[in-house]
Amino acid sequence: MSIINPDISKAETLPSRYYTDSETFEKLRTKFTSNWHFAAHISDFEDNNVIPLPHLVGLMREPLVLTKNDEIRCLSNVCTHRGMLIANEKCGGSSLRCTYHGRTFGLDGCFRNMPEFEGVENFPSDADNLKEYPFSEWNGLLFSTLDGTAFEELLKPIIERIGWMPISEFKHDQTRHREWEVEANWALYVDNYLEGFHIPYVHEDLHGVLDYDNYRTELFDGGVLQVGMANKGEACFDLPESSPDYGQEIAAYYYWIFPGLMLNFYPWGLSVNIISPISVNRTKIIYHGYVWDENKLGEGAGADLDKVEMEDQFVVEATQQGVSSSAYERGRYSPNRETGVHHFHRILTSQ
Ligand code: FES
Ligand SMILES: [Fe+2]
Repeated sequence: MSIINPDISKAETLPSRYYTDSETFEKLRTKFTSNWHFAAHISDFEDNNVIPLPHLVGLMREPLVLTKNDEIRCLSNVCTHRGMLIANEKCGGSSLRCTYHGRTFGLDGCFRNMPEFEGVENFPSDADNLKEYPFSEWNGLLFSTLDGTAFEELLKPIIERIGWMPISEFKHDQTRHREWEVEANWALYVDNYLEGFHIPYVHEDLHGVLDYDNYRTELFDGGVLQVGMANKGEACFDLPESSPDYGQEIAAYYYWIFPGLMLNFYPWGLSVNIISPISVNRTKIIYHGYVWDENKLGEGAGADLDKVEMEDQFVVEATQQGVSSSAYERGRYSPNRETGVHHFHRILTSQ
């Protein structure tokens, strides 16, 4: 049973130990290992067929690599000789070669060759191949997991809503890549993401382009969708008739998938934010940008993501200090504006 009351009008927010206590942090961190995580976008394969996934180490505790020949595979990126990481950068080629002592593997993970191993008994064996992990693709977005639970179920509400978007045609834009470390617990960063309540107070420019009164928060199993409606004349999606939102002026779809994946769709394309816990009060934030229509960069809700990010980081870091105070234990939720935060806290404290 969750310690968060299902009735938001009665509920109290997460106890502060969830943000400040190292043991609680370690327990919650295990929730990251059993989920699907964003690995890459299909356009990352444009000039490469080997894509290491260092961002997943923080999330799943596993160094993984995506490879592509006849098909895309997710493999262990750990050499079966003495454990060196094999691929350290995106690259091309028809095999994987460990830079430590030269062991090579096919792009299917099978052992191929090892120098100076003549006379070694029972070698090579299956244990010399790279382990393969579950992997799924939807519309050009590639996801990895360690245990492969229902992927389709997870994405169903997203597919129904924005399945019309040509996401697989978006192009990776390295200039939009960002990595930050914030002095705050990962869940505080997620809390802040899950409400538009703070927009008028914290994001002056963003507030100017979004229609705050019509900002919507929708809950689904394992996630939250926030729909940012555009103010008159501001950039919005050109929605096809097949969209359930046809006829509305939507500036952004902000998807969060438990525990720390954010898929932010703007008329210019997609900003993927990955929230990776480092310690109880330190979190890494990674941005990947995929451009759909470059003429729309710089417009609307997704115009200046760096500025919005800095504004968010300021409040999140200050809140970390606040929740660490002996004067603070728990708060209450706004039933109008904080249903997303409440939903997250329910998921986090269930099981
Ligand atoms: S660790 Fe890879 S070849 Fe030795
Ligand atoms: Fe914000």
